[in-house]
Amino acid sequence: METIEQIAMTPDALEKTRDATAIAVDDIYKSFGSQRVLDGVSLTVTRGETLAVLGRSGTGKSVLLRLIIGLEKPDSGSVRILGQEIAGMGIDQLGEVRKKMGFLFQHAALYDSLTVEQNVAFPLQHHKKAMSKSEQGDRVRQLLAEVGMEGHLEKMPSDISGGMQKRVGLARALALEPDILLLDEPTAGLDPISGGEIDDLVLKLQAEHHMASIVVTHDLHSAKAIADRLALINDGRVVIEGSFEELQKSDIEFVREFLGHS
Ligand SMILES: Nc1ncnc2c1ncn2[C@@H]1O[C@H](COP(=O)(O)OP(=O)(O)OP(=O)(O)O)[C@@H](O)[C@H]1O
Ligand SMILES: [Mg+2]
Repeated sequence: METIEQIAMTPDALEKTRDATAIAVDDIYKSFGSQRVLDGVSLTVTRGETLAVLGRSGTGKSVLLRLIIGLEKPDSGSVRILGQEIAGMGIDQLGEVRKKMGFLFQHAALYDSLTVEQNVAFPLQHHKKAMSKSEQGDRVRQLLAEVGMEGHLEKMPSDISGGMQKRVGLARALALEPDILLLDEPTAGLDPISGGEIDDLVLKLQAEHHMASIVVTHDLHSAKAIADRLALINDGRVVIEGSFEELQKSDIEFVREFLGHS
C-alpha cells in the first residue's frame, strides 16, 4: 500500500523508494512436519538500514534467515531480494542472487580446515575467477584490515578466539561487496566487551558499505546498539516492530516480559 507521501511523488521518485527495499518477506509460513515454525511473517529492510530480529530460542529466527538466503523454501508467502522473487528460483539463478548477500552463520562461522586467509579468499576464488592471485591476496588483506585481523593470516580458526572468528567471518561475508548482510547471532557466546567490539564493527561496516542488514540476536543490548528497527518474534509471528523506544512503550505482555528479562 502506498503512503500519502508516496502518492504525492513523481513516478521517478516513487520508483526510487521502491528500489530502496532490498529485502521484502511477505506472509511466509514454514512448517517442519507437524511443527509450524513461521506463521505468517512479514518484514522489509531497505538499503542502509539495519533490522534486528529478536526472540527466544527456537522461535524460528535462523529459519527466517535461511529462507531469505534461499537455503529453505517457504510453504507459502513471498521472499523478494533486490526486487526478485526467489521462492521459485532454480539453483543457478539463486546463486546469482546469493552473490549479492553476505552472511555469517550462527554456528560454524568459518571453515575449520582453512586458514584465516584461505577462509576470506574462498568466495573470491569461487566467484571472482577473473581476479589474479595477487589481486585476491590484496583484497583479502584489505578485508582483514577492515575487521582488525590483518596480523592473523596464517592462523587456523581453532587457534583464534570466538570474537576473532566472528571478525574473520564478517570479513568473508563482505568479500563480494554485498548489498545485503545477514548476521545470525554475531555476539553469542562472547563476553560483553568482545560483544561490544563486534557491535562497533557492525556499525562501522554498515556506515561504510550502506547495506540492508538483518542481525538476528537475543541480545537486546546489542540490538539496541546496532539496529535502526527491531522486530520481536514469538510463536512464529512478529509480535512488534519498531524502534527500541517504541518497544519500551508497548503494553503487550510478551514484549514487556522480553524487555524485562533481557
Ligand atoms: N531443518 C529442520 N528440520 C526440522 N526442524 C527444524 C529445522 N530447522 C529448524 N527446525 C526447528 O525449527 C525451530 C526453530 O529453529 P531456529 O533454529 O530457527 O530457532 P532460533 O530462533 O534460531 O533459535 P536460537 O535462538 O536457539 O538460535 C526449532 O524448533 C527447530 O528445531
Ligand atoms: Mg538461531
